[in-house]
Amino acid sequence: MKKVGCRECALFFKTTLASAVLAGVLGLLFLGIGVVIYGRTGGKELAEKLGVPRPAIIAHRGASYFAPEETDPAFLLAREMDVDYLELDLQRSKDGVLIAVHDDDLRRTTNIADMFPGREMDTVDKFTFAELQTLDAGSWFNIRFPDRARASFKNVRILRLEDVLNIAEGGFHKPGLYIETKSARRFPGVEKQLVEILTARGWIRPLRRGVSESPRTERARARVIFQSFEPDSLARLKELAPQVPSVLLIDETMMRKDGWDALLRRAKQLGVGIGTWGYQWSRDPGWSINDAPNRYLTTWPWYSGQAHRAGLLVHPWAIDDRWEMWMVSLFGADGFFTNRPESALVFYGRADHIDLKPVWERIGY
Ligand code: G3P
Ligand code: CA
Repeated sequence: MKKVGCRECALFFKTTLASAVLAGVLGLLFLGIGVVIYGRTGGKELAEKLGVPRPAIIAHRGASYFAPEETDPAFLLAREMDVDYLELDLQRSKDGVLIAVHDDDLRRTTNIADMFPGREMDTVDKFTFAELQTLDAGSWFNIRFPDRARASFKNVRILRLEDVLNIAEGGFHKPGLYIETKSARRFPGVEKQLVEILTARGWIRPLRRGVSESPRTERARARVIFQSFEPDSLARLKELAPQVPSVLLIDETMMRKDGWDALLRRAKQLGVGIGTWGYQWSRDPGWSINDAPNRYLTTWPWYSGQAHRAGLLVHPWAIDDRWEMWMVSLFGADGFFTNRPESALVFYGRADHIDLKPVWERIGY
């Protein structure tokens, strides 16, 4: 009798455990489905209202996996692939020329140490445009990424904003520009200068004073989007060109300091979207242009839904791996910045395959 009782106990225990595990698995499954659905809502309508393509493929510093960032070949390559936007970081030379450069100084992406010994630590704004034009902004790429090196990258030059406009206008495909005012507090008046150039070139409509303007009145496609980590710069851009959508970029420092909810509120006051540092973990730094040896989640993917419900688009950066593309899309991102637009185009089904060989020939690199 005693033996039978123990067998019943064991059976009862096993059944209870199996039920608990099953309930847990089902619970997690439903939670996951709920989170995904919760995250996905809202972005499509927002993007349509704003005239922003969705999903937006934004070539981060051009097609910068394949060519030196923010240079002629990087932007031409991205244009020829038919991306939605060319992304660039705007700075200004000592004599007031707006240029496309990412870093504060020129050590990583030029031969500044050879050309201006003793001045290599100087920030970009300490050099005149003529001086900047003497720099080789391509050979560093060949040294750092020998598997992607091309002799034609040697001596490519730093570009002016106008050069990037020419590239965007100059082909069969007409990508928009996604312009970051980089380190804007070092460049007083940069927003006004930027808006004046874009207006003169017909990229944005002149503001009709006295007439209420908002991004919602903008026509079918937003050709330009502004972006910045600096809320003050976005506020100035909003004042100067409220018809242009703008996006608050956020990184882990801002997340730690202000928190997601406060940043959402700030982004909503300033513009129409939020640019979140994406979901990339540790990776061989030689693989991409991103320097950080250890990268990590700064925002959870399901935050997208919250942003959408706050009336904000979500464009994470810089999303290069297929699994990252899959994950941010699953959770409702409205596109993303990528160094690998060829991969994003295939991922989103806009191309079966991109053969770069004829593209290199076409653009002359
Ligand atoms: O502009 C989006 C992303 O580019 C922000 O980071 O450092 O690459 O300019 P960063
Ligand atoms: Ca940028």
